[in-house]
Amino acid sequence: MNDNLQKKILDKVKTLPPMPQIAAKVIQICEKPNFNFSEVIMLVSKDISLTSSILKFANSAAFSPVSEVTDLRQATTYIGVNNLKNLVISISLKSVYNKTFDFISQKIWEHSIAVSIFSRLLALLKKPEIATEVFTLGMMHDIGQIIFKTSVPEYSEFVETAFNNNIPLSEIEKNFIGFDHAELGGYTMKTWKMPHLFIDVVYFHHQYLQSKFKDHSVILTYANNIVKSLSDCIDKVINEADIEYCEEVLKISKAEKDELINNFMEIYKKEKEIFELK
Ligand SMILES: [Fe+2]
Ligand SMILES: [Fe+2]
Repeated sequence: MNDNLQKKILDKVKTLPPMPQIAAKVIQICEKPNFNFSEVIMLVSKDISLTSSILKFANSAAFSPVSEVTDLRQATTYIGVNNLKNLVISISLKSVYNKTFDFISQKIWEHSIAVSIFSRLLALLKKPEIATEVFTLGMMHDIGQIIFKTSVPEYSEFVETAFNNNIPLSEIEKNFIGFDHAELGGYTMKTWKMPHLFIDVVYFHHQYLQSKFKDHSVILTYANNIVKSLSDCIDKVINEADIEYCEEVLKISKAEKDELINNFMEIYKKEKEIFELK
């Protein structure tokens, strides 16, 4: 364990681009019970790239509108304010990833998108009321890995060691750094003043039984493990016991699982480019 390194990493979190202003304001406004719909639209429309990403999303396979959605008000009515809020957060996160465009970052980003999409599909089936929240959690859960990547020079070697020896990445991180990407992710959510739900679920995403938000955590854990089994990612160790436990809690039948995986593969292929880095 290296105190200097730990300090350097935690300092790095403070220098990250803050949760961008627009996203932070959108969260604030949407949390008021009688928020003003037009206020949200006006705020988002100030950011052209955000607006175009939202339009792309409203027209994507996930929502498959009957006719093309062409303006922000129409898009918001169509996807709902909750989706809009979560989308704004997710798109804003790209600014953190964009700073470190390399193979490992690309893999973490792809994994995050995949977990988001799978979590949302699963929630729509079992807990529709939290579908948009688990989508955002999927995007954020491994953000600690990206921060390690940008602040620990040996991190690529840690990733390689974990990958080649089939060891959970968290284990290597704890041994060499003193804390893992889940703890660092929770700390980042706190620094960004994200709601408690995000701090808790990200912090406990590898110890989901300790989370106070059981539904969110079980869905995220299941999605994380299934996505790992379907695509190559840097932290590839799958926990079969977790998969079984989540299937039992969520009452996922074999037929539902197969259908979920099929839907996921189809949507993931089509939606990957919406969130493309660069
Ligand atoms: Fe993780
Ligand atoms: Fe993950």
